[in-house]
Amino acid sequence: MTRRLIYNAFTHVTPNHHSHGYWRHPDGQGQLDYKRLQPWLDLARTVERGRFDTVFLADVVGVYDKFRGNGDTSIRTAMQFPSLDPASLVSALGAVTEHLGFAVTSSVIQDHPFDFARKLSTLDHLTDGRVAWNIVTSYLDNAARNFGHAALEEHDERYRWAEEYVDVVYKLWEASWEDDALVTDATRGVFAEPARVHKIHHRGARYSVEGPHLSEPSPQRTPLLFQAGGSEAGRRFAARHAEATFIAARTPESAAHHVADLRARTRALGRRDNELKIIVPLAPVIGSTEAEAHARRRELKEWLSVDALQSFYSGGLGVDLSNIDPGQPLSELLQNNHVRGNVRAFIEAAPDRTVTFADLLKETVSGRFAGTPEQIADEVQRYADAGVDGFNVVPVTTRGWWTEFVDQVVPELQKRGLMQTEYAPGTLRNKISGRGPLLPDHHPARQLRDEVRQLSRDKRRAQQV
Ligand SMILES: Cc1cc2nc3c(=O)[nH]c(=O)nc-3n(C[C@H](O)[C@H](O)[C@H](O)COP(=O)(O)O)c2cc1C
Repeated sequence: MTRRLIYNAFTHVTPNHHSHGYWRHPDGQGQLDYKRLQPWLDLARTVERGRFDTVFLADVVGVYDKFRGNGDTSIRTAMQFPSLDPASLVSALGAVTEHLGFAVTSSVIQDHPFDFARKLSTLDHLTDGRVAWNIVTSYLDNAARNFGHAALEEHDERYRWAEEYVDVVYKLWEASWEDDALVTDATRGVFAEPARVHKIHHRGARYSVEGPHLSEPSPQRTPLLFQAGGSEAGRRFAARHAEATFIAARTPESAAHHVADLRARTRALGRRDNELKIIVPLAPVIGSTEAEAHARRRELKEWLSVDALQSFYSGGLGVDLSNIDPGQPLSELLQNNHVRGNVRAFIEAAPDRTVTFADLLKETVSGRFAGTPEQIADEVQRYADAGVDGFNVVPVTTRGWWTEFVDQVVPELQKRGLMQTEYAPGTLRNKISGRGPLLPDHHPARQLRDEVRQLSRDKRRAQQV
């Protein structure tokens, strides 16, 4: 294989992630079991058999309530509602797998960073270093109100918030415990050396955290860092912090532009190209012939809930689509306060015409492509040629779909060298980057260590005088 492509099984602990309305389809009703553990264990085993890198658990912490001015449509159509906590699944999934990673989405508006750092360190310990964090900043007004805020913070301010949030968790993960702090010397009765376990003394605009980190260093210390945001501020954040970023590109050509932009940004920050993996969605309807795949896709489209789709985009873009002239250009929303990356992706996918609101509502991401396993592999190759490093594979109907993908598409991808046939050893970071369990020393998380430890030593000395 020339380049190691990454595959994540993209899902959400809810009856409906992106297959709006398909939970009513006879092949979609399995998703209604989202609240039972067994189907998730089956999914993890299936995608590990297919040599996927991770189960990528998306999440939102509110109801989409912009469409028609309330959340009724989302509630009625199970549009990413109800939804359960993704992190709670991970230790169970870890117990039935050996190599598969788990990407947990968690927004800076939800857990306090002190608590969140401990939660992820716990999962990283319990899975022997197979955890990733998808860093998101939230885009739903209702999510902001659920956490005590009058409204969603201004778009770029949310990224400044994320900068402080990662600063706190980096200090806890990377700086609090020195590598040799854990002694476990039964003869001397020393478990950990106090002078090497540091308080972090963080004081910032939003957080004040003393430390030390309650967890001893986990196998990866900082879990593998994912991010998904395509605006100017989102791309700056990805280039600086992320080890993998999920971009919303809709064609190989627009992906190539986004990739070139991100590569230029990471290089300018002194990072190597392969330190930021760029991931796009792959959401195929599979058929044994092209005609069968297209017939299935047409049949599925009959089940699409346009109401649910409108509620999804209304919440994501912060506009009530029931009040919008579908002929208006989408470019009006390029500077919206919610999700900008998606709008940009829609516009860049059709550079020779005016993209309108009507274009949003033609399809959901699930089933955007239909073809035979060979045609799906051709599509994967087109994205790989555009410089993309991997895929968030979006299921079309239920978990049965994963078996189809693993049994029919994976062998074709492996035959062409487009998918790994065996896992690399070690932590998730090592499997994906081949560079060991820890972040490289020039990453901002590692750069904080000396400063935090010096501050801790100074304070300790001052107390002793
Ligand atoms: C492909 C993709 C997947 C995303 N998944 C999630 C998610 O699971 N949860 C979430 O809160 N936000 C998610 N987001 C939203 C982003 O994290 C970010 O908040 C949003 O894109 C706004 O940032 P932007 O304006 O920089 O694009 C996703 C965005 C994209 C493009």
